[in-house]
Amino acid sequence: MRTVNVAVIYYSATGTVHTLAQAVAEGAEKAGAHVRLRKVAETAPPEAIGSRPEWGRHLQDTAGVAEATLDDLAWADAVLFGAPTRFGNPAGQLRAFIDTTGPLWFQGKLADKVYSAFTASNTAHGGQESTILALGNTFYHWGGVIVPPGYTDPVQFRTGNPYGTSHVAGDGAPGEVTLEAARHQGRRVAETAAALKAGRAA
Ligand SMILES: Cc1cc2nc3c(=O)[nH]c(=O)nc-3n(C[C@H](O)[C@H](O)[C@H](O)COP(=O)(O)O)c2cc1C
Repeated sequence: MRTVNVAVIYYSATGTVHTLAQAVAEGAEKAGAHVRLRKVAETAPPEAIGSRPEWGRHLQDTAGVAEATLDDLAWADAVLFGAPTRFGNPAGQLRAFIDTTGPLWFQGKLADKVYSAFTASNTAHGGQESTILALGNTFYHWGGVIVPPGYTDPVQFRTGNPYGTSHVAGDGAPGEVTLEAARHQGRRVAETAAALKAGRAA
């Protein structure tokens, strides 16, 4: 496989999406990609973070994860975005990062890359698909190549989300089946980006 650069850019308040992001990164790495796992900056005020001990704890636990920059997007052949569902949409922290990408977009530097998305919500019908589709709106504007997992691996029939890996956080931490779906998504995105790169070079 032609080596590709894959950025996994995520926001997570209490660790669920972080766990998914790690599995996505692992899948892309196993497919031979160079991977950057990056969190976006926390923008919530300390009072909000302090209102939930697990939020503050996760912030501390992931202090060593590098923050996403525009260079990570410019570097990447493929980008997977992860965010918790907030009222049926991606968390504002991830949107805040996306809203800094205007200069790259204007130069056409976000076009032609492969994009994919994953999420978590507290309940099964709490808006996972709408969150992933909302991120898709941005990928359209960028001229991206959207690569969803669909039902391209047996594990997809077990987790049942063809739009992107998702987890019901209210059921506890992601289990092995969901993590395998996340690895599959990372792998599929890396392999598709490699095939595109090889085809364009031919
Ligand atoms: C302001 C806010 C809005 C939320 N909106 C939804 C929602 O629309 N549907 C849902 O099922 N869960 C909702 N949740 C729960 C989060 O999606 C859930 O806590 C998150 O997916 C956990 O991911 P994390 O551990 O990576 O932060 C909301 C949480 C907050 C704080």
